[in-house]
This record gives sequence, structure tokens and C-alpha cells, in this order.
Amino acid sequence: MTKYKMAFIFFPFSFLLLLTMDSTTFTTDKEDAKYMQLAIEQANLSVPVEGAYCVGAVLVKDNTVLSTGFSRELPGNTHAEECALAKVVAPNKDNTRELFKGATMYTTMEPCSTRLSGNRPCTDRLIEADIKRVVLGIKEPPHLVVCTGIAQLQSHGIQVQVVPDVAEQCLAPNAHIKSKN
Ligand SMILES: *[C@@H]1O[C@H](CO)[C@@H](O)[C@H](O)[C@H]1NC(C)=O
Ligand SMILES: [Zn+2]
Repeated sequence: MTKYKMAFIFFPFSFLLLLTMDSTTFTTDKEDAKYMQLAIEQANLSVPVEGAYCVGAVLVKDNTVLSTGFSRELPGNTHAEECALAKVVAPNKDNTRELFKGATMYTTMEPCSTRLSGNRPCTDRLIEADIKRVVLGIKEPPHLVVCTGIAQLQSHGIQVQVVPDVAEQCLAPNAHIKSKN
């Protein structure tokens, strides 16, 4: 298993130095690879718009797909993970939160930590939902905002793993963003 670490250094104010670290491992689990392919299929369904990525997500618990989502699937400027969470409705509505506990969110791209629209970031939503594990395809490229999703998830005890060898497939629906830089 390959392990890699990245350090980001920010200078939000001249007097404050904030250092955050994130450390992810690759997963070689065949089930993880399978659900990531489902997430990539979802990302492929997303219609590109200027200034936003095309991402796909699949929420899984106990080897069962609870829901899927892709960027802008639901009305508004919605994100893939946001849609996947919103689409889960337990038979008894009050139990929806129970369903999230112990679930894994597969997403083609690192969950966002800042939204230019001002909407609540997916990282906050995943932490609030008490998701156990996040499996992603690629880190968010630095084209639009600096993303600290992985570090924030990990600081809340959520395991973050990366599926190897899917970067090209996860980037493919995002050529409209890449080409701007
Ligand atoms: C997603 O779309 C790309 C580009 O059109 C294609 O190469 C790839 O096979 C698709 N992947 C899935 C899982 O549907
Ligand atoms: Zn998001």
C-alpha cells in the first residue's frame, strides 16, 4: 500500500501561520474500485458549466448502494456528494441520519471545503452526516479554490482513501476547467 503525505501552508493573516497536514492511503479493495467506477459513471452524467467541476458520488453502506449523485443533478448549483446525501430517505424519515452512520461516500473528487456560491461545503455536510469513510479518485485541482477537504475530514476522524489509477477517468469530464489554466 502506497502512502503519501502533503503539507499545505497558508498565510491567512500576516501574523498567523496555519499549518495543516493530510495523509491518505490508497485502497486496493476490489469493492472500492467497483463503486468508484459507479461514481465515474455518475460524473459522466454531469453537464459541464463554467467555473464548476463535474463530479460523481455513490453512498454505500453494508455493501449496498444507498444513493448516487452528480454535479447539478438536483436543482440549484448542487454538488455530487450533496445530491447523494439529499437523495437518501429512510423508510421512516427520522431514521435517515441513522443510515449515514458507518456509510462510505465514494466521490470522483476530493469533497469541497469552500464554495464560491457561498453554499455549505460538502466536507461540512459529510462531517455532520457522520460518514465513516470517504473514498476519492483525485484531489481537487487548484484551478478554482484551495481545497482542504481531506485534512478537515481527517481531523474529524473520517478515514480518507484514494482509489489508484482512476485520475484520468475522474479528470475526463473536467476538461472545461483544465483548459482554462
Ligand atoms: C466516462 O466518459 C469517458 C469519456 O467520454 C469515457 O471514456 C469513460 O469510459 C466513461 N466512464 C464510465 C465509467 O462510464
Ligand atoms: Zn462539494
